[in-house]
Amino acid sequence: MVILAIESSCDETAVAVTRGREVLSSVIATQIEEHKIYGGVVPEIASRRHAEAIAVVTQQALNEAGLTYSDIDAVAVTYAPGLIGALLVGVNFAKGLAMSLDKPLIPVHHLRSHIAANYIENEGLKPPFLCLVVSGGNSIIVKVNDYTDFEIIGETTDDAAGECFDKCARAMGLSYPGGVNLDKIATEPDFKRYPLPTPHTANEFDFSFSGLKTAVLNTINNASQKGEEIDVPVLCATLRHKVCDILIDKTLLAAKKHGYNQIVVAGGVSANSELRKRLKEECEKENYELFYPSLKYCGDNAAMVGVQAFYEFEAGKRADAALNAYATRDIRED
Ligand code: KG4
Repeated sequence: MVILAIESSCDETAVAVTRGREVLSSVIATQIEEHKIYGGVVPEIASRRHAEAIAVVTQQALNEAGLTYSDIDAVAVTYAPGLIGALLVGVNFAKGLAMSLDKPLIPVHHLRSHIAANYIENEGLKPPFLCLVVSGGNSIIVKVNDYTDFEIIGETTDDAAGECFDKCARAMGLSYPGGVNLDKIATEPDFKRYPLPTPHTANEFDFSFSGLKTAVLNTINNASQKGEEIDVPVLCATLRHKVCDILIDKTLLAAKKHGYNQIVVAGGVSANSELRKRLKEECEKENYELFYPSLKYCGDNAAMVGVQAFYEFEAGKRADAALNAYATRDIRED
């Protein structure tokens, strides 16, 4: 079954052609350069750029797969969560395409597709497993019982990990996307020089990152009031280390308490070099099998949408012309 998949939830217009877990083509038009001058994504600009790019990117994805519209068996699209205007561009384009081709339309939840990014290159991976999903807007620990059956056991009570990285990076003068640049320049952590709090949550698997963000902002403001320079690479490394401590400790604890030996990481923050390295070391020590996507599938792309759509289709999921986009939506909702 050949699926043409569309992703436009934030600042990448992405289209892919997939067959099961196989990626026949994956094209991404990124808007990063355009949003850089504003220090973050401007939703209205994102929607306009998606509208300009989507038809061209779709044609390119078909060309790269060596296929035409008549070879497509179904159209899949990210419908939630994300920037509403941006999502609507993809959803409406996908609806038009599915109707004109007279093919099924498959709606895909963005976080489900981030998890599915792991199926692309890990042939043997299949549910059940425990997954840490960390992106710009979400941080959850989820039991993946089956390809379309999810149970959240921990979530952030305030900011997402990516949001914390991005906002702290911006305050340190790094350009957008902050998390990526923070990871690039971070050196060695120094908690004596830059003490950061360990957040506490009522549920042991929940996250809280807003206190950490405030502590970093206070550190920067205090230094500025005293006319002192911040050692940005060291503060970046200190924050990165603290965030990784939290993500790794909670994920391993959840795996232990809930009896999993397969741990999967997904979402943009899964590209973080320290998270990948330390989680690998910890999982080796504990005899857990660890999976994360290769770097090209960590961020937003449509290949992961197509792969998840295959399983959604198998589970009977279909949409029609009434499909809407949603800025927020629980991963468990059908
Ligand atoms: O999953 P994603 O591409 O988009 C969302 O669905 O949110 O995640 C984007 C987030 C941003 O916050 C970005 O700064 C963060 O992932 N990110 C990173 C790294 N690469 C991307 N954070 C830390 N280290 C990285 N290497």
